[in-house]
Parts: sequence; structure tokens; C-alpha cells
Amino acid sequence: MTALHLWHNATVCTLTPAPGNTVPDSPAPDWGLIPYGAVVTEGDTIRWVGAYSDLPAQYTPSAGQTAQPITAHDLGGALLTPGLVDCHTHLVYGGHRANEAEMRLQGASYEQIARAGGGIRSTVQATRSASETALLESARKRLLQLAAQGVTTVEIKSGYGLSLESEARSLRVARAVGSETGLTVRTTYLGAHALPPEYAGTPHEADAYIDAVCTWLHELHAQGLVDAVDAFCETIGFSPAQTERVFATARALGLPVKLHAEQLSNQEGAALAARYQALSCDHLEYLSDSGIAAMRAAGTVAVLLPGAFYALREKQLPPIDALRRAGVPMAVATDHNPGTSPTLSLPLMLHMACTLFRLTPLEAVLGATVHAARALGLHDRGQLAAGQRADMAVWQLQHPNELAYWFGNLPCQHTIVGGQVFHPAL
Ligand code: NIG
Ligand code: FE
Repeated sequence: MTALHLWHNATVCTLTPAPGNTVPDSPAPDWGLIPYGAVVTEGDTIRWVGAYSDLPAQYTPSAGQTAQPITAHDLGGALLTPGLVDCHTHLVYGGHRANEAEMRLQGASYEQIARAGGGIRSTVQATRSASETALLESARKRLLQLAAQGVTTVEIKSGYGLSLESEARSLRVARAVGSETGLTVRTTYLGAHALPPEYAGTPHEADAYIDAVCTWLHELHAQGLVDAVDAFCETIGFSPAQTERVFATARALGLPVKLHAEQLSNQEGAALAARYQALSCDHLEYLSDSGIAAMRAAGTVAVLLPGAFYALREKQLPPIDALRRAGVPMAVATDHNPGTSPTLSLPLMLHMACTLFRLTPLEAVLGATVHAARALGLHDRGQLAAGQRADMAVWQLQHPNELAYWFGNLPCQHTIVGGQVFHPAL
């Protein structure tokens, strides 16, 4: 018999339409707040959510001998939310790029630095020359820093290896930090991130490289290392036609796709991704109306990345109001990477999604919980309701709108991962 746990004396933010609602697929138009609330978990699953005064008799710790034993946890009046989901990160890499950030401050653009051989390619070099142990240690540290601010599920992309060996290594490291810590890690293969140096200057260099990306995908999938497939569709990345070849290979293997789309220019990448039932399109500063319509029809999530927008001092805002009006679900993520978004605070991204992109605090929080989970194809988390996974975050806050209010550092008291208290030991 799995032990029952009662988490009580908390303001519970369910993000479900009604307290205890068991239909977790329809996010609330409000916070779903339960003052003096309680949650009952069994193993890694939530069994019951509601007001403490409505706690069913079988879950009261003082129930008679016949009742299943229950361990009570007094949360001391804290705020309890779903564990946060960071649905877009590039967490596994060697080195950093502070030098490029300084060059940008002096006027060089991201694109100029990339075309001069810096950018993604300089991180590829540092990643290839790092040992697997060094990659593992740095990725674990970053993952625990995300966790210290409420994150319980993280997507990690490859894309700094750009050879079969090195991409496999990054994906193995991503899987390993997940299983070591007990946090959920979803891996995304981003072989189509940049052209590696060994292909530069060869005939049909980008097309030849895309051939290799597709071949490697079969191998990486066979090794069980891939949950989804992504590409960088951009003038400094890959063309829509090249992106499509990667997507066709992924879908033929039954893998879902996502896209770095319309970050620096409109390539109509979002519409292309929607044709392949993409889980998400990410960045989207230059997203067109037809892209929005295609995403809406395909149920594709729009992942907003205010960290990259801010660090690149972009001027073009993603079309938030049009996305909102079209009813496209919006997620918010860190895009943690050494080039354009060296942050490990998802709450800071919520703040910036509100100040820079004009999301409401509720939209921002839905964007780092239920919509972020959907961007990963996960339907078992992101809300607090019976049947959902018991991933929760405990905050010394009164109201969840504070998640998007404080900025700079918002540690959570602790998280609950799969029904167990999780203290990231930093
Ligand atoms: O999401 N745009 C492409 N990929 C990353 C940046 C990668 C890098 O510069 O290292 C992004 O912003
Ligand atoms: Fe990214």
C-alpha cells in the first residue's frame, strides 16, 4: 500500500476551473485559489484537493485503525502552486559567452557575431572539448538552480554538439541529470541548430548537414534519447525546406516536433511547424497572422522567451494580443543558454513576460505551468487536481500574482516532486 500524504495549512493555487475539479485539461480563467486548502497525495499522484474543512473523513490523520495511514505536513500558511515547468532550455553546454555579450554592448549584433563564426559555433567548440563528467556537473548545477526557484519539470535541448557522438553525449547528460535528481527532464534533439565547422565550405553544405541530422535522428531515437525534435529556422539557421526534412523524419519515427520560429525574421516557420502538428513554436517575435491561424488550428503552444528578447535588446514584440485573441495558449520559459539567455530564474521570466510582453500575471503563471506542460506534450501536470502528478512548489507568498511581481531572486521554500519533499542542495 502506498503511503498517503496530507499537505495542509496552505493557500492552494490550483489553476483549475473549480476546486477539486478533475478535468485538468481546461485551464482556469482565474487562479483557482483555495484559502485554508489541502492536498492529499498517494505516491506520485494527487488524490484530492479542496478546502481543509471539506477533507473527506478517510484522509483525516486521526481516522480510525482501518484507515490507510496518512502523514500530515503543515505548510505553515504558505502558498502552494503546481511545480513550475521550464519548457525551453539549452542546459547542457561547455564554457560561456560573456565576451560576446560585451561585443553586443559595443554595437555588434547577434547575427554579425554568428556570421563571424562566434555565437552557437563557439559554444559547440567548448561543448565538444568538455568531458562528459564536466558537462554533467555543470548541467546538474544549473538544473538545481532552476529547481530552487520552483521548477520541477525541465526540457533540455541538445544542439551544441552537432556530431552524432557529441549530440548523443549531450542527450545522455540531460537524461542523467533527470534520473539523478528525480526531476522530470524531457529531451529535445536540436541537431539542426547551426552548421558545424566541418561542413562549412563543402558542396551544398547545409543540405548535406541536414542529411546527417536526419540520419543521426534514427540512431539517437533507437538509443531512447529523444522525446521531441526541434530546429532553428532562420536566415542564420536553416531554411524552411531544410527544417521540413527534419520534421518529416521526426514524424515518420513518431516523434513530436517544435520550432525556434520567427525569432529574428519571418520565415513562415510557425505555419510549417503547425503542418507537422508541432507541440510548440518558440520565440515568435516576427510571427505573422497566418502563422497564428495555423498554430491555433493545430493546437500548437506559443512559447514566449523574454530572456532572449531582453538580452538581444530586441525591439519587435511577439504579437501577444493577436495570440490572445486567437486563443493560442501561451507558455513562458527561460531559454537558458550561454548566448542569448544566461538566466536560471523562471520567476524572473514571468516578471519580464508581464513587464516586456504585457502578459497578465495569471497568463504568465499559466504559461509556466499548464501551458508549458502542454508545450512538452505532458497532460499529467501543471494544475493541482485529483489525478495530476504530485509536483508542487511551496512559496512564502500570499498570492500567486507575486510570482510575477518580485524580480531578481524568488527562492521557493521547497518543492514536492512526485509526492516527496525536494530540497535542491545547491
Ligand atoms: O533559443 N536561437 C537559437 N538558439 C538559442 C540561442 C543559442 C545560442 O546563441 O547559443 C535561442 O535563443
Ligand atoms: Fe532556444
